[in-house]
Amino acid sequence: MSRSERFLKACRGEAADCTPVWFMRQAGRYMKSYQEIRARYPLIEMFRTPGLATEVTLQPVRAFPIDAAIIFADILLPLEGMGIGFEFTDSHGPVISRPVRSAGDIKALRVADPEEDLGYVLEAVRNVRGEIDGKVPLIGFAGAPFTLAGYAIEGGGSSNHLLTKRVMYEQPEAWDLLMDKMCRTLIPFLKAQVRAGAQVVQLFDSWVGCLDPSDYERYVLEHTRKIFRELRAEGIPSIHFGTGTAGLLPLMAQAGGDVIGVDWRLTLGEAWRLAGPGVGIQGNLDPAALLAPGEVLARKAAEVLDSAAGRPGHIFNLGHGIMPPTPEDAVRAVVDLVHERSAAANRTQPSAGK
Ligand code: CP3
Repeated sequence: MSRSERFLKACRGEAADCTPVWFMRQAGRYMKSYQEIRARYPLIEMFRTPGLATEVTLQPVRAFPIDAAIIFADILLPLEGMGIGFEFTDSHGPVISRPVRSAGDIKALRVADPEEDLGYVLEAVRNVRGEIDGKVPLIGFAGAPFTLAGYAIEGGGSSNHLLTKRVMYEQPEAWDLLMDKMCRTLIPFLKAQVRAGAQVVQLFDSWVGCLDPSDYERYVLEHTRKIFRELRAEGIPSIHFGTGTAGLLPLMAQAGGDVIGVDWRLTLGEAWRLAGPGVGIQGNLDPAALLAPGEVLARKAAEVLDSAAGRPGHIFNLGHGIMPPTPEDAVRAVVDLVHERSAAANRTQPSAGK
C-alpha cells in the first residue's frame, strides 16, 4: 500500500498496511531547515507568503516518512478578518491587541471572507496539493469556535479561561453571538480549504478541556456540531482534537468528527471506550517522550500502539504539538518504529481489532 492511502484509510476506519503517523506542529522550530527560514522572516510573513508556507509545509514531508502533510498556517489567522488584530511575540506567544469582552465588542465583529481575508492560506493549500499529490494527503485545519473565542476574550493564552467563562455565564446571548460569528467564519474557510485541495480537515479545540461536561453541552456542543455537519456534506474525513478532554469525549464524539484526537492523559483503550467504537482515535504520545533516552521513547511509543491494539482507525500522533527542543533523529526513530512495529503486528494478527 502506498504512503498516500494509509492515512485516508485510517480516517475512514478501514484497516491499513501499518499505522499511519504524522505530528501536530511537524513544521516548526525543532527543524534546522525551518530555523533557517524563520531567521529571515517574521512568523506572520511566513504564514502570509504562499511560497514560504508551501516550502515549510513540505520540509517535514521530505525529511521523514510521515503519512500526511498539514498546511503551515495558524489557528489565529481568521481573527484578523473578523476585526481582531493580533501579533506573534517571541516571548509571550500570540497577543491580541484589543481583546473582545463586552456585548458591544462582539456585535462589532465581522464575519471573515475566506477568499478576501485568507486567500494566502488557500493559495498555499493549492500549491502544496500540486506538489505532493499522490505522495501524501494534505490536512487543512481551523481552530474550533471555543478555542478561538478563548484567545479573542483572554487576549492570548490562558491557564484558566476565567474571562472566557465570565462572558459565557454573565452574557450568554453575547457568547452565542460570538460562537455564531466564529462558525460563520470557520465553515466557509474550511470548505474553501477543501475546494483548494485539502483532503482531510482537523478542528483544533485545544483548550476546551478547561470546561466541565455541562458547560460543554450548554455553550459549545451545538456550535461545534454545526461545523462537522457542514464538513460531512463536503465528503471528506474530519478530525476533532482537544487536550485534557477525558471527561468530554462522549460529548465531543456527539459533536462530530470521524476521528477524535486525544492527549496522553488517558490510554487509547479508554479513549475508544469513551468516544465509542464508531470513531477513529488519533494520538497520543506525550511530546516530552521525544526528548527522552531512545529506549524510553521506544517503550512509550510501543505502549501507545499496544493500547490501540491494532484497531483500524488508529492514527499515531503526539497528544499535542512537537516541542522546539525535540531532536530530529527522535522524530525519525518514532516514525520508523510505528511503521515497522504495526506492520509486523498486522502480519501476525491480520484480523486484529476487526
Ligand atoms: O501543525 C503544523 O505543523 C501546522 C502549523 C500550525 C501552527 N500552529 C504553526 C505555528 C498549526 C496546526 C497551529 C495551530 C495552533 N496555533 C494551535 C492549535 C494547536 C495547539 O498547539 O494547541 C494554537 C493554540 C495556536 C496558537 C499559537 N500559535 C500559539 C499558542 C503559538 C505560540 C506557541 C509556540 O509554539 O511558539 C503560535 C505560534 C506558532 N504557530 C508557531 C508555529 C510553528 C511557532 C513558530 C515560531 O515561533 O517559529
